[in-house]
Amino acid sequence: MPDITEVNPLREGLTSRTMPDPCAVVIFGATGDLTHRKLVPALYNLAADGALPPTVSVVGFARRDKTDEVFRKELEEAARKFSRQKISDDLWAVFASSIFYHRSEFDSLEGYQALAKRLDELDAQRGTRGNRLYYLSAGPDQFPVILENLRKSGLNKARQGSWARVIVEKPFGTDLPSAQQLNELVKEAFSEKDTFRIDHYLGKETAQNIMVMRFANAIFEQLWNARYIDHVQITASEALGVEGRAGYYDKAGAIRDMVQNHLLQLLCLTAMEPPAGLDANAVRDEKVKVLKTLRPIRGEDVRQHVVRAQYGAGTVNGKRVPAYRDEQNISMDSATETYVALHINVDNWRWAGVPFFVRVGKRLPKASTEIAIQFKSAPAVLFNVDGQTIDPNALVIRIQPDEGVALRMSSKMPGSSLRIEPVKMDFHYGTSFGRATPEAYERLLLDAMSGDATLFARRDEVEEAWKFVDAIRDEWETSADDLALYAAGSWGPTEADDLIKRFGATWRRL
Ligand code: BG6
Repeated sequence: MPDITEVNPLREGLTSRTMPDPCAVVIFGATGDLTHRKLVPALYNLAADGALPPTVSVVGFARRDKTDEVFRKELEEAARKFSRQKISDDLWAVFASSIFYHRSEFDSLEGYQALAKRLDELDAQRGTRGNRLYYLSAGPDQFPVILENLRKSGLNKARQGSWARVIVEKPFGTDLPSAQQLNELVKEAFSEKDTFRIDHYLGKETAQNIMVMRFANAIFEQLWNARYIDHVQITASEALGVEGRAGYYDKAGAIRDMVQNHLLQLLCLTAMEPPAGLDANAVRDEKVKVLKTLRPIRGEDVRQHVVRAQYGAGTVNGKRVPAYRDEQNISMDSATETYVALHINVDNWRWAGVPFFVRVGKRLPKASTEIAIQFKSAPAVLFNVDGQTIDPNALVIRIQPDEGVALRMSSKMPGSSLRIEPVKMDFHYGTSFGRATPEAYERLLLDAMSGDATLFARRDEVEEAWKFVDAIRDEWETSADDLALYAAGSWGPTEADDLIKRFGATWRRL
């Protein structure tokens, strides 16, 4: 049965969004970075935009001892730094009064029982009506014990007429078996419809726009196939390094940190067939089909189709930065990849023979994420002859920054000679819509409160993505002698240039 939900972000404009139900948002790991940088600023912005009922309450659950007052003060400082909109003193005062702190160990059943009592009190005092949204933002090693205690304390069960949902932050497992195990644990406590696996890329306005662009415009979809498209390039480059997350990142590496989730999601949105409807399951069914048609890369093929690399010392934005192995808390002989480039085949009728090139890296010259659809060249007649090379058309979807879409075309340069130059038709969100795009977490929190899972990963999506990544990693485990090096501040290793060159293409200059 299709998952018919009251509110669906992809239907916005067709039907108006209604206010989510009042609820208590319980954040596990509330003293962490994500809560300060993203979650609370997102909730504040939603409240400031009038998108939340005033009764929504936020309960931070963490181990450190602190009062509501101290917790609110800390969050205020962070919100003033990280909020999309400037914090208004009056609005913050109202918002802060809906924030509470609950101290407990993650493995203390009594702590959860006390939480249950506190949530009941909030229902009575603030009108949260028994609705609960649990946000697992603690370290992933704590997920099992939190889920177990939510179940044992009965917090996972909603009263008649209310709901209890869980948002699970990434990383969702470290490979297929661990993801399956986590999925089983989640399933013991929450049904799939109440489970929201975060991939914050799906909450980005520009990622949501991929489907709209493809299926609300009659012109693109006609060309969106192997007949007209030469290849697709998906790039996520970051100028930042590991930024104090060495412990996590050195175990994950770029393929688990970015490819398994964000990059494969972007690939799915680019390659999927039109869904049967806009409900969560119809959209996710199509994405899963793409994941299932990815040709596995395993064994000896890995070296042919995947390049992994690590950054050495270099200069990024005019600043000298150390090599990855010299970063704090990274071992001197770490073989973790901070860059990966892949050639992926999507084995279905639409995409047969169209290479998808995906690259992602840290400490590259700048932060930029984009999807480039490179069309085939115009036939070599008329203007395309006599050594005159004409750049083929390219449609570039800029995910971030400078969100927008550009179409590259060829045009005659004004003048008496016939000189053909590439020009761009360029749409920028900033100038076309004249307002800042909301942060991904704003959209995702609102959707979870509204019970809409369209922009969240379904169980089978996560597991299929791991299958693809695990096959590559299995081969990597056998030896690290293919780990290439690139200087920080460069566009990655020459091996990645060679990879794409074999298909007659070059990486786009960003
Ligand atoms: C996270 C990764 O999921 O995404 C980080 O763990 C990465 O390593 C980040 O920096 C990138 O997100 P964004 O929104 O800045 O592109």
